[in-house]
Amino acid sequence: MALLEVENLEIAVAGQSEWLPVVEDCSFSVDNNQTLGIVGESGCGKSLTAMAIMGLLEQSQVNITNGKIWLDGENLLDMSAGDRRRIMGDTMSMIFQEPMTSLNPVYRIGDQIVEALRQHRKMTSAEYRTRALQLLEMVNIPDFQQRINSYPHQLSGGQRQRVMIAMALSCDPKLLIADEPTTALDVTVQNEVLELMLDLQRRTGTAIILISHDMGVIAQTCDEVAVMYRGRIIESSTTAGLFANVLHPYTRGLLNSIPAIDSETEWLDAIPGRVPMLEEKLSGCAFHPRCSYSQPKCADTLPAALSIGESHLVRCHFAGELEL
Ligand SMILES: Nc1ncnc2c1ncn2[C@@H]1O[C@H](COP(=O)(O)OP(=O)(O)OP(=O)(O)O)[C@@H](O)[C@H]1O
Ligand SMILES: [Mg+2]
Repeated sequence: MALLEVENLEIAVAGQSEWLPVVEDCSFSVDNNQTLGIVGESGCGKSLTAMAIMGLLEQSQVNITNGKIWLDGENLLDMSAGDRRRIMGDTMSMIFQEPMTSLNPVYRIGDQIVEALRQHRKMTSAEYRTRALQLLEMVNIPDFQQRINSYPHQLSGGQRQRVMIAMALSCDPKLLIADEPTTALDVTVQNEVLELMLDLQRRTGTAIILISHDMGVIAQTCDEVAVMYRGRIIESSTTAGLFANVLHPYTRGLLNSIPAIDSETEWLDAIPGRVPMLEEKLSGCAFHPRCSYSQPKCADTLPAALSIGESHLVRCHFAGELEL
């Protein structure tokens, strides 16, 4: 069994009069030393999937309605809230999409790192401070001896993101989930941040889930990729396997929308249309209204997950038959 195995995960959010499924039949796994990329357009369910794994969905508006999440052979969904809190930040931790929401503006960053450590490790005050300095140095915060006393607003966006990473790495997690860790950053800082995570992996064997809507970032970083569309994984494979043989029209659209470095236009070939609203009931394949290969069957019948080759899964009635 892999370190993390997500099995048939289903998440629903409260609509006007009923629960609306936002993540459906979602299965994937990630093992030590591996990086799994989860990619897909805004609103497709990436962050909710991450929060479900982290145990951050105990809200009245969002509910896990089915599935299992195995970490080290134990189903997290059967654990007590106390046990889950012990794991969070220690065995697994998360870098959030927006650093300012998870850094507290009124505390110095050093104190916030120490607080994160204190929840899981017993040390003397001097040891906490030494470890906090070590972490800030590791994530390349310039003048870290002075910066440890700064407040979040005194740092740049990239530095704040790195402080978040320092906190997430403070207990050497076995599983690290990074939710769009680089979206707000320029390309140079983006590469540094990705490099930091991979560096941690080389040192400690951490399993990483990297969430992004940027296929370029995924290609550069991940061993495996899962492509999500409206709450379902519609294609998954090794990264090399996916790039060599794209089987779902949506994945092809995402790949075509990688911005070209020397191009005047920002997006080469964005996918026409938009992700359907949650309230819109859709039969068949959720992508069919936007798919240029759509046939009547696509509107009627949900495609099953087809296994093609060794580790390539795809949900398309015409997988392998289309020239993408
Ligand atoms: N607390 C909530 N209550 C109700 N609906 C929610 C809640 N959180 C998310 N949703 C809805 O669930 C869907 C999936 O949201 P999610 O945040 O997982 O998307 P995402 O793939 O992370 O998108 P993005 O790339 O914009 O971060 C969206 O339609 C969103 O509006
Ligand atoms: Mg998100």
